[in-house]
Amino acid sequence: MKILFISSEVAPFSKTGGLGDVAGALPAALASLGHDVKVVTPRYRGLRDAARLTPTGQSLVVRFPSGEASGPILSARLSDNLEVLFLENAFFYGNRDGLYGDGAGEFGDNPRRFAYLSVGALQAAQRLGFVPDIVHANDWQTGLVPVALQRAFRATALGRAKSVFTIHNLAYQGQFPKDTMGDLGLPWDLFTAEGGLEFYDAVNFLKGGLVFSDALTTVSPTYAREIQTAEQGYGLDGLLRRRAHRLHGILNGIDAHEWDPQTDSFLPARYGPRSLEGKAVCKRDLLARFGLPPGDAPVFAIVSRLAWQKGMDLLLDVLPTALQADIRFVGVGSGERHLEEGLAALQARFPEQVSIRVGFDPGLSHQVEAGADFFLMPSRYEPCGLNQMYSLRYGTVPIVRATGGLADTVEGGLDGNGILFEAFHPAALLGAIRRALALYADAPRLDEFRRRGMDKDFSWTVSARRYESLFRELLAE
Ligand code: ADP
Ligand code: GLC
Repeated sequence: MKILFISSEVAPFSKTGGLGDVAGALPAALASLGHDVKVVTPRYRGLRDAARLTPTGQSLVVRFPSGEASGPILSARLSDNLEVLFLENAFFYGNRDGLYGDGAGEFGDNPRRFAYLSVGALQAAQRLGFVPDIVHANDWQTGLVPVALQRAFRATALGRAKSVFTIHNLAYQGQFPKDTMGDLGLPWDLFTAEGGLEFYDAVNFLKGGLVFSDALTTVSPTYAREIQTAEQGYGLDGLLRRRAHRLHGILNGIDAHEWDPQTDSFLPARYGPRSLEGKAVCKRDLLARFGLPPGDAPVFAIVSRLAWQKGMDLLLDVLPTALQADIRFVGVGSGERHLEEGLAALQARFPEQVSIRVGFDPGLSHQVEAGADFFLMPSRYEPCGLNQMYSLRYGTVPIVRATGGLADTVEGGLDGNGILFEAFHPAALLGAIRRALALYADAPRLDEFRRRGMDKDFSWTVSARRYESLFRELLAE
């Protein structure tokens, strides 16, 4: 199959969260199954490895009512069999840092920036003579892809392609004022609640993806059920229930090469399930790196976007109590200012036990996964979550709230591989931390937990096959 995969971030080139990881790994897994896959993404100013990009000699033009936007198409190989195409545009991507916003908030021209990506990706395929069987779009930034495919591109060779839209996070919908319709030149007949982009008198990009695609997926089976409820549907649960027969929960995988403690070059020592000694070296190194005194106390950790979704407020609630025991807490994260400040205040109050790095640091995230004993994810909701899978692979016991993909990947109980709690409540999280302390005190049992986690296979191959069969079903329709 020829597959065109469109995403607003692609690791290692750009990443703010798990979407980048998925877009960097799933297309490669599909290519390894023998498919012809191309990925399309913006050429942001701050792109990592930008030196790898080469011109394709092609460019594109997207017409907005106020004028044309245009720019070249660049290319880089992510692996032997996978090409990533980058859309360059000086006004949308080249003139600023940040993918979606900066300290002052979301960029005001995001509707145009991502309309350019959505329409531009389809045009790029045309210009390069790539006629996809499947067009796979991801999250609100590419919500206009299935819309454009059914409308503007219908009469072209691309019009025969089947579209798949993956929801990585239903809470981020790309909602913009009504006049965005005119600004983007979208036909007004699309501005309807039933079968259109209208959502409470605003334009909703995500809804475009949900309504116009041939199939919908989300990143775990549990989240696929949760988003059909009023509590977690963010106003779109009715639509999702109506399209339930088209909605599939396919668990994310992890990039088993990038996240492998036996080969990870970010680590001071390497280790595997049968040789855990290196993990102790990583722990000593981690404490030193974070400026904490050495010692045997258990290390609890987070690596996270600091956002409401992630339950960091709950964690900040219980940590002062938890820190009465002899534990250490290290964290890497960035996001909402009050959470960054809350973590900084915790460090000021417990300087011998707590150390926080505010920022986005991929190398450090590997070192934390390896050096910590326990990894905390007290999420309010979690479509899939990747860090708990990285933790399991690194022999770090995850402590997670039983929601979304966390419930689908972490096994609780006496012979599980992690610690689960149900209620989004301080007592429940504190109870989970106490269970972790009991586990830590029982070294043989802790080792068994670690090994069971490390032995789990979360590689992309299984999930990529699920997407593959979904694509085949669509093409057979
Ligand atoms: P989400 O996409 O909701 O943020 P995921 O668990 O799916 O959650 O993916 C988060 C990804 O982003 C992981 O690869 C994680 O290591 C990474 N990440 C999050 N915050 C940071 C940070 N401050 N520094 C480095 N990596 C981070
Ligand atoms: C989103 C979700 C996260 C998921 C990631 C990749 O950012 O918040 O749970 O793992 O997308 O699908």
